[in-house]
Amino acid sequence: MKIMSSIASEKLRKLVATLNAQEKCTNAKLLRLLEELAIKEEDIAAYQLYQHTQEESYGRNEIYTNERFRIYLMSWDAGDATAIHDHGGTDWGCVQFFGAATHCIYKYAKNHLTQTEKTLIPKGTIVPVVGSFIHLMANTGKESICTLHIYGRNTKATNEEEKAIVFQPEKGRMVTTSGTAYLNMSESEVIDTNEMPTMSQEDYQNYINIVSPFYKRLGTVL
Ligand SMILES: [Fe+2]
Repeated sequence: MKIMSSIASEKLRKLVATLNAQEKCTNAKLLRLLEELAIKEEDIAAYQLYQHTQEESYGRNEIYTNERFRIYLMSWDAGDATAIHDHGGTDWGCVQFFGAATHCIYKYAKNHLTQTEKTLIPKGTIVPVVGSFIHLMANTGKESICTLHIYGRNTKATNEEEKAIVFQPEKGRMVTTSGTAYLNMSESEVIDTNEMPTMSQEDYQNYINIVSPFYKRLGTVL
């Protein structure tokens, strides 16, 4: 757990203090707060984690966590991507984009996973997140970018609620993890394994196209 006094940016300290002062939060309140704060690159620069290990599919750096909410800065080299994942027991949250990133949204129902949206999210956008939200993020551009992630709950999270579902079509499985969404994650992160739901050939191919640069740098051809 990181403490607030270690945060150099005044805007980030204000973000933490405001969220700590609220008994309950909602995505509408969080979005308003982020718009007011107008967090800039200079506020998050100290947390950038480019040139992370090749095995990690993006850089993940904790800015602050407590029992109710967590703030991370994710850093994306060209070709970095998350797995397709949900957000466990998140009641409120959002992602602020400091660079343009590819964003795919999925729907999971009746043992079938469907891509419902694929967009290039422009720099400056703030996207709301709740637990059941299933998505994938990727840096399909040539420049490194970073994104600020806030995930919160209105009650103290149990271990059960911190778990996330990760879909791994290239491995033919769907796994429960402790919360990370790395591609090709270490088996020590995997808590439970189930069969991969069905996907259309088009959605599967779109996924493979997005994650191929990561596997290529590991020397794996999908
Ligand atoms: Fe996510």
